[in-house]
Amino acid sequence: MSDMKSIFEVSIFDRFGLEVSTGSDLHACSNYFTDENLGYISNILQRRSYRRFTDQEVSEELRTILVSCAQSASAKSDLQQYSIIDLRDQAKKDEMAKLCDIAWLSESPVLLVFCGDIRRAQRLCDMRGLSYAQNTLDSFMNAAIDAALAMQTMVLAAESLGLGCCCISQVRKRLTEMANLLNLPNGVFPIAGFVAGWPNEERDISQRLPSSIVLHQDKYDDSNLSSEIDKYDRRRHEARPLRNQINSSKYGTASFYGWSENVARRLAENSDLDNIKNFLNEKGFDLT
Ligand SMILES: Cc1cc2nc3c(=O)[nH]c(=O)nc-3n(C[C@H](O)[C@H](O)[C@H](O)COP(=O)(O)O)c2cc1C
Repeated sequence: MSDMKSIFEVSIFDRFGLEVSTGSDLHACSNYFTDENLGYISNILQRRSYRRFTDQEVSEELRTILVSCAQSASAKSDLQQYSIIDLRDQAKKDEMAKLCDIAWLSESPVLLVFCGDIRRAQRLCDMRGLSYAQNTLDSFMNAAIDAALAMQTMVLAAESLGLGCCCISQVRKRLTEMANLLNLPNGVFPIAGFVAGWPNEERDISQRLPSSIVLHQDKYDDSNLSSEIDKYDRRRHEARPLRNQINSSKYGTASFYGWSENVARRLAENSDLDNIKNFLNEKGFDLT
């Protein structure tokens, strides 16, 4: 327990670049902290994505635990509207790496695709002789949220076991081919891939926005955005400067290139993942 103060201070400095003295507040609530939950919280505060793994396999036992943890996530109305495709076949992993344009995916010890899934609920209605009446945008969103919560729960479980992981939105780059590769029927859509293995690289913690931007008291208020973002850009730059400026031939070379400039340049271009609406409508969703 004596390490409680330093765990939080170090983690919060790494994550937010903030020097905080949390000792006295934490002392007041020290009844809540045990070594186990301190470890759990500090794992979350210090989490980071990994993309390079050793050749060591992830055992079947660990895989079972990871899936069980993912399935323990909360789910809208207990409907559990997601499916997970576990890619084991090397030819399929290679094909997936190609479709995502990420070569290293094929070497990933664990390679999963988390999918939103309203087909199961449709089939349940069918099995019970009722007609499904909820082919709505809300159902799409519930299924996407269920899948995302299951995926992030798996991430946290994997990381607490010492595994490294990364989510992969690039599975939505070539949706039709991806759906064919995974044999996805109507009502099932990929939200993200998930890779995991034993880390084989050093990664920094990625600094997050300050809570003054993300957390709003009683009502939404972003009047401080501009000044707070400037500070955030500077802090991030000090910890981990961005070396490559996006599309400098079009946008010029900025003398100071921070997170917000990088985000703005990314979002000023069309995304290559933006064909989802057509894909979903072809897959039996009614999103018009
Ligand atoms: C839904 C989702 C999709 C992501 N897709 C990709 C991806 O396609 N490629 C990639 O390298 N990282 C991907 N990431 C990882 C993010 O880039 C990473 O979480 C972010 O940069 C913050 O870094 P951190 O996880 O180390 O804190 C994704 C993360 C999420 C949550």
